[in-house]
Amino acid sequence: MLAPDETVTLYDFEPRVDTFREAVVAGLSQSPRFIPAKFFYDARGSHLFEQITELEAYYPTRTEIAILEAHMAAIVERIGPRAMLVEYGSGSSRKTRLLLDHLIDPAGYVPIDISREHLLASARALARRFPDLPILAVCADYMDDVPLPRPEGPVNRIVAFFPGSTIGNLEPDDAVAFLRHVAGVVGPGGGLLIGVDLQKDARVLERAYNDEHGVTAAFNLNLLARINRELEGTFDLETFRHHAFYNAEQGRIEMHLVSRIDQTVCLGDGPCFDLVAGETIRTEYSYKYTLEGFAALAERAGFHVETVWTDPQAFFSLQFLHA
Ligand code: AVJ
Repeated sequence: MLAPDETVTLYDFEPRVDTFREAVVAGLSQSPRFIPAKFFYDARGSHLFEQITELEAYYPTRTEIAILEAHMAAIVERIGPRAMLVEYGSGSSRKTRLLLDHLIDPAGYVPIDISREHLLASARALARRFPDLPILAVCADYMDDVPLPRPEGPVNRIVAFFPGSTIGNLEPDDAVAFLRHVAGVVGPGGGLLIGVDLQKDARVLERAYNDEHGVTAAFNLNLLARINRELEGTFDLETFRHHAFYNAEQGRIEMHLVSRIDQTVCLGDGPCFDLVAGETIRTEYSYKYTLEGFAALAERAGFHVETVWTDPQAFFSLQFLHA
């Protein structure tokens, strides 16, 4: 435990970080091939994602912020005073600042992130804005059973925050496992404020992942550029195209990179992978839920949906779950 400055305390559980190389080799060796979506977010990928959130076609971010702003009084009332807020993710977002601006006498803020660098940078930025808030930064994997630090002073309840519909990146059984873990962390009487993207017209969904400016395509292709940069990959980006579509049966957006030609790609001196024209590498699932479907998922995990807030078009939801 180390105190980098007055208001941020770091609790470092030294999580094991999956290496990019292991994940790429394993995923490209499987059929169908895939690369886990979490590897999108190197410096360039994070920058591209920021740009995506500002696109007119990409409705989730601005809609979630609008819901948060429109219903802030009710949301902070649901959470109640002296809550310890645990965020899954480093909390660099505008949403975290908004919520902390309005929370009633918060007992402490506990961001959990596997990236020490991200975690400390955003915790320090928040500390400058909220100098009186105890910030206890936890470097750990989301799913690790680490003992959470407790701030000084009374804590009424623990409430987790998981915005952005990041839950949509998990396949439903994995989403249940994650939510079950969160239910254990917040304990009986605890809560979870979670952003959940909703099923809607396929044209709206597909446009959000196929923007006319090509930012999402660049974000997707950056995975191959990252392999080239970090793993001595031999990908020729011109020979791949971005493909995103709504799989209505599964209720998910799928993003793929499609090989335009028969080709062999290598990581340095190997391994190499033979791709045929039209073959795809899946890079992301983004599940979209109905309110009923998500409520059932939450129940399987030991949560009960207490309140759902949505925008006028019911594109996105912010939900308060009770453990
Ligand atoms: C950050 C996972 C919520 O699924 O919409 C945006 C990532 N991918 N455009 C999403 C993403 C392509 C995003 N999440």
